[in-house]
Amino acid sequence: MKKSVSFDYSGRVALITGGADGIGRATALAFAESGASVAVADCDTKKGEEILALLAERGKEGLFIQSDVSKPADVETLLESTLSRFGRLDFAFNNAGILGEQLLLAENNAENWNRVIGVNLTGVFLCMLHEIPALLRTGGGVIVNNASIVGTVAFPASAPYTASKHGVIGLTKTAALEYAKSNIRVNAVCPGFIGTKLLEGVGITPANEMGQTIAGMHPLGRFGTPEEIAGVILWLCSDQASFVTGHALLADGGYTAQ
Ligand code: NAI
Repeated sequence: MKKSVSFDYSGRVALITGGADGIGRATALAFAESGASVAVADCDTKKGEEILALLAERGKEGLFIQSDVSKPADVETLLESTLSRFGRLDFAFNNAGILGEQLLLAENNAENWNRVIGVNLTGVFLCMLHEIPALLRTGGGVIVNNASIVGTVAFPASAPYTASKHGVIGLTKTAALEYAKSNIRVNAVCPGFIGTKLLEGVGITPANEMGQTIAGMHPLGRFGTPEEIAGVILWLCSDQASFVTGHALLADGGYTAQ
């Protein structure tokens, strides 16, 4: 199996939320290939079984915890399970997210708003609430939160999603300031369009007409891949990024440079 990245995370423990598919899954596998022990949290149990099988193929016995990151009790259990299984936490990738319904603002509704904010923003808050004490126990670590290009610019018909991702960057910067002296670095990654089920759910694939139009909106002329984002996350977690904190790193094929 070709290694997608080359970092040595032997003896380290990584927790990835929404890690059973898409960008989270690619990141879980990249961490495993780099030697880390991997805990995956996801609300989808079937996909959770699949990621455990993929980790086993790489000689890793992973941990899958069925959880909804918008629920405080689930997140508490998630951290307890990770610490009880692996004894420590070094890296957390808070990645679980949903698009929600694509509606213009004045046609939107409180239910959609609460669901998207609950998973994408409250979920990241709840995870950091429990991850930071876990990291402090062993002298520090690194958190990466998955924002988006729409953490920095807007996209029509996605007010809750856009607001949630702007909020993720605000949370990231706050946590970075508060825990810099405790040896915890906190950054966000802001991907452009990545071909995953998230977009398939609204009829966008890299190959179809809508996807081709969107690909053309990126100066690199294509979607990114989950593996390209995983590479950015592993780098942010590495000592090579030791002076990087409070940063929202755009990995967007030039989308926001225009
Ligand atoms: P995906 O749909 O392929 O994977 C998301 C995973 O999160 C799934 O396994 C899903 O079961 C899980 N999940 C959803 N709600 C959850 C919850 N409440 N609790 C726990 N797990 C939950 O999506 P993708 O594209 O990999 O997205 C991951 C993150 O990347 C999201 O935060 C998304 O907003 C962000 N992102 C995605 C982009 C894209 O173009 N695909 C672009 C920029 C950011």
